[in-house]
Amino acid sequence: MKKVLLVLITLITFVFLITLSSQEFTYVGPNKCKVCHRAEKLGKQFIIWEESKHSKSFKALTSEKAQEVAKAAGMGTKPTENPECLKCHSPLFKKASNITKEGVTCEFCHGPGSSYKKLSIMENREAAVKNGLIIHDSSEAIKKLCLTCHKDSQEKSFDFKTSWEKIKHPVPGKK
Ligand code: HEC
Ligand code: HEC
Ligand code: HEC
Ligand code: HEC
Repeated sequence: MKKVLLVLITLITFVFLITLSSQEFTYVGPNKCKVCHRAEKLGKQFIIWEESKHSKSFKALTSEKAQEVAKAAGMGTKPTENPECLKCHSPLFKKASNITKEGVTCEFCHGPGSSYKKLSIMENREAAVKNGLIIHDSSEAIKKLCLTCHKDSQEKSFDFKTSWEKIKHPVPGKK
């Protein structure tokens, strides 16, 4: 009897672990999104991002200005290796260290894409969300996302409207 129970428990644990691991979505990097999202018809999201500062935010940490900022803050570590800079300039540096150089990349805002990037899933919002896609469904939610990095400073407050105009990347014809 004990043996049967043990086998049963092992089996249940096994099934449980498999279910868990199949829900572990991983980060694939912006080049995987590019395949579809550079297309004019879909709204060229990749191109818009590539031309924005978000694609260059890691590189910004190599500039002379970055070294000065770090020095002024009394930091010994190089900005490109310093979690205190990376947390905003390359926010996936811990979760996906292989794509650190991509800066503020698609998947930080949209969630890890390993499962939802498949066309049949992407075309179905509900399925995409089940597979890890994060949607920000109001301007309040979008603004909240921005404010995790863009702080109001003493000189000026973060101008959400103007900033969003600079980086937004809608699918044409969709509201
Ligand atoms: C195989 C092609 C393909 C790939 C690869 C792909 N997408 Fe998509 N994506 C689409 C299509 C098609 C849509 C649907 C557009 C529409 O709503 O008409 C879409 C929609 C989306 C949406 C909007 C979802 C909604 O319902 O509002 C987001 C966000 C998105 N994709 C992000 C990404 C990200 C991030 C990646 C890379 C990790 C990616 N996609 C990879 C084809 C793709
Ligand atoms: C709370 C998030 C956050 C942290 C932490 C942070 N930054 Fe930034 N950084 C930003 C944002 C947002 C901007 C863009 C601001 C703007 O242009 O309005 C920026 C801009 C910069 C720029 C100017 C880039 C350019 O294109 O001219 C440099 C350089 C820089 N940061 C270096 C650093 C360094 C070095 C550290 C670590 C000591 C650091 N930052 C930490 C959010 C952050
Ligand atoms: C994970 C952190 C992070 C998030 C979230 C984020 N940004 Fe940024 N953003 C940055 C950093 C870092 C820079 C500076 C990059 C550089 O100058 O190289 C930047 C730069 C910018 C710039 C160019 C600087 C300027 O003022 O012209 C705009 C515009 C911008 N972000 C808009 C937004 C908007 C809108 C949102 C919300 C939808 C957002 N960002 C969310 C980190 C972030
Ligand atoms: C700084 C955060 C941020 C980054 C980086 C970012 N997006 Fe978005 N994206 C948003 C927000 C916010 C929205 C609007 C609300 C939503 O759909 O979540 C959006 C909307 C979209 C949409 C749907 C547009 C619509 O009209 O339904 C697609 C497709 C998309 N993004 C793809 C991408 C791809 C591909 C990349 C990288 C090449 C990317 N995004 C990078 C924040 C971001």
